[in-house]
Amino acid sequence: MDQYKKHIFICVNERPKGHEKGSCAHRNAEAVFRKFRAELSARGLGNEYKATKSGCLASCSTGVNAVVYPEGIWYKGLVEDDVVRIIEEHFLAGRPVQELRLFQEQEGKLEG
Ligand code: FES
Repeated sequence: MDQYKKHIFICVNERPKGHEKGSCAHRNAEAVFRKFRAELSARGLGNEYKATKSGCLASCSTGVNAVVYPEGIWYKGLVEDDVVRIIEEHFLAGRPVQELRLFQEQEGKLEG
């Protein structure tokens, strides 16, 4: 299998309700994941671009979080309406969506 052009890992981690950190699952992460899968499939892009569920990405208060490889671009606060924009602007046009990025100056450094 060739490497995907872009591979997005979307946190779907769930913690018990009321947990102080919250979790992406409680912010509708599963719907964001399903929307990525559906959009990529509908556009015939599934062999080049991939969406995969991930566990906790360790920035729980900013979820729904995701990270795109190979660049290592992180996104925060994702909702279903952001999916088409990320596919069209980042995946296809090569321009990460700046206002949705979690780390812009220190890519990959976690809040803890
Ligand atoms: S629960 Fe999603 S980043 Fe921690």
